Amino acid sequence: MPAEYLCTEAELYPVPKCLLDPSLSPTPHINSIEQYKKLYDESIKSPTEFWGKIARETLIWATPFQTVLSGDFEHGDIAWFLEGQLNATYNCVDRHAIKNPDKVAIIYEADEPGQDRKITYGELLRDVCRLANALKAHGVRKGDIVTIYMPMIPEAIIAFLACARLGALHSVVFTGFSAESLRGRIQDASSKFVITADEVRRGRKTIYIKNIVDDALKECSTVERVFVFRRTGSKVSFIIPRDVWWHEEIQKYQPYCSPEFVNAEDPLFLLYTSGSTGKPKGILHTTAGYLLCAATTLKYVFDYHEGDIFGCMADIGWITGHTYVVYGPLACGGTSVLFESTPLYPTPSRYWEVVAKHKITHFYTAPTAIRLLHRFGREYIDCHDLSSLRIIASVGEPIDPESWKWYYEVVGRNVCSVIDTYWQTETGSTIISPLPCAILTKPGSATLPFFGIDLAVLDSITGKEITTTEAEGVLVIRQPWPSIARTIYNDHNRYVNTYLKPYKGYYFTGDCVIRDRDGYYWIRGRVDDVINVSGHRISTAEIESALDAHPMVAETAVIGVSDELTGQSVHAFVTLKPNCSTDVKELTLQIRKVIGPFATPKKIYIVSDLPKTRSGKIMRRVLRKIISNETDQLGDLSTLSDPNLINILVDKVNSS
Ligand code: WTA
Repeated sequence: MPAEYLCTEAELYPVPKCLLDPSLSPTPHINSIEQYKKLYDESIKSPTEFWGKIARETLIWATPFQTVLSGDFEHGDIAWFLEGQLNATYNCVDRHAIKNPDKVAIIYEADEPGQDRKITYGELLRDVCRLANALKAHGVRKGDIVTIYMPMIPEAIIAFLACARLGALHSVVFTGFSAESLRGRIQDASSKFVITADEVRRGRKTIYIKNIVDDALKECSTVERVFVFRRTGSKVSFIIPRDVWWHEEIQKYQPYCSPEFVNAEDPLFLLYTSGSTGKPKGILHTTAGYLLCAATTLKYVFDYHEGDIFGCMADIGWITGHTYVVYGPLACGGTSVLFESTPLYPTPSRYWEVVAKHKITHFYTAPTAIRLLHRFGREYIDCHDLSSLRIIASVGEPIDPESWKWYYEVVGRNVCSVIDTYWQTETGSTIISPLPCAILTKPGSATLPFFGIDLAVLDSITGKEITTTEAEGVLVIRQPWPSIARTIYNDHNRYVNTYLKPYKGYYFTGDCVIRDRDGYYWIRGRVDDVINVSGHRISTAEIESALDAHPMVAETAVIGVSDELTGQSVHAFVTLKPNCSTDVKELTLQIRKVIGPFATPKKIYIVSDLPKTRSGKIMRRVLRKIISNETDQLGDLSTLSDPNLINILVDKVNSS
């Protein structure tokens, strides 16, 4: 976030009065800053008592746990709720289906308006059991990794839960990823099973995902079976006996399958995310700790109550979709909206039509979508009845104060709480955010830590804790919390080196932060080579290696540049091998092929050389300044091997 956004004098926004009025809103779980502080202090001073109690109250255990927490950051051996046994689907489905089978679990808002569908807890249980039985019949067992590459349809959620029912891990891959990316993830996980569909439909556009899967599987010898769900009914290639139709398989099995009770620390899923090197990391979350924080943050951060309709717009391929479309709402027995379309289809009113139609109480999206809709103007919003909304939330990147205020005034009509949630794939659930009825907000700040999150700000050079309230530095966490990722699949060393080694005894977030005099946190962005485009995490190294793999390319430097709409955008500088030629279009295709369309750079510059230090390191800082038109602030160029290059690069950027 640019420094000018930061305003420690920012106006404090009070809790909207109607949220505290019992005749208009449910009684908040936490309704004062004092109550928040008391619980927060307890959670930090006695984490085992705090989380032990909540874990007993929130989850159903087949075997109770004895040890709340063991291990620490120094040894990288964190474990929560040892000896406890449970099943995630029992907690997310069975217990609610037993009590209230007709309650709606999922509202599916299909790509085409008017094709929505509701699935009750009773139906969900039967569907999950049928699929679990079918998967079992095809050999899926506890500990197996099932790759899910699915559209935003209820069957995707059913697939998550069917895996969890058997104690198998799901590894969900966002359908914006290409065949090569999908292949890399399947290979890394040695996945034997894939669940997919014929096609994705989004904003009336089609992605032929079965073809992508076929392409990916050309080099995946481990995969034995592919379950294919019929989403659009188009003809797709079918490779027998590898491929089976979902609808044919499930008919063979009865709609009950007993849940496999697993240990608290048994893994629930893998989710690949970008790191600062080219190779994506398989972030591993375990069953009890993850589920507990998904449910607990839903309850407190979103002040969730029985009867609420939770509308998280994120794709299930990202952590936000995992935690706040699937596990959080279902663990709480809530109703979750699954949105298949885009905010602009068929018009920029789509979100608001959906809010009004389903009487959504919680609306959760990313700043990039907020900025996009802001540009279209309020006429698309004002004509819709948004009176059901209580909480409107944001995630994925810093939200600039202007967009925050617009969200508050136009979408929230000054009567909803804006909840900016800061977290990461690795944290499992939100770790810094206001509590709607207890913490006053400041536009642009994620405010204060959630229970159990013991934050510290370190001086990035000395690594020492800054103990004054006002501080600027890298954001770290002092104590483990239940939903922290436990490892990187097959690479525990990388886990330790990335998160635990940089600052001994702390979890390192990779973000830098400012803490203002009120103790509020303002996330300022990554300190590593990870960039954030429209809330999607992309590593510059990943894009560089995709370009480097092109036969004509000699060298590349990819940088993230601030962007009014998408937060950051990707700019790539490329040099070609001698006597080689190619064009920007071809290089764009290369990235789409290797990673996926969402990683497409905003600009690619084919240049004669890259600025380097005498030892040959590419000076990305210089490229950043050139793009932002700050060539008067290039800093120390004494190590630059060819000083003339700057003018050539400036000309190239200006003429592109
Ligand atoms: C950034 C998404 C500022 C941050 C849940 C983090 C944010 C990375 C916010 C994780 C926010 C996420 N304010 N920055 N509210 N939320 N980020 O793993 O840089 O896709 O480290 O998880 O996104 O991205 P990830």
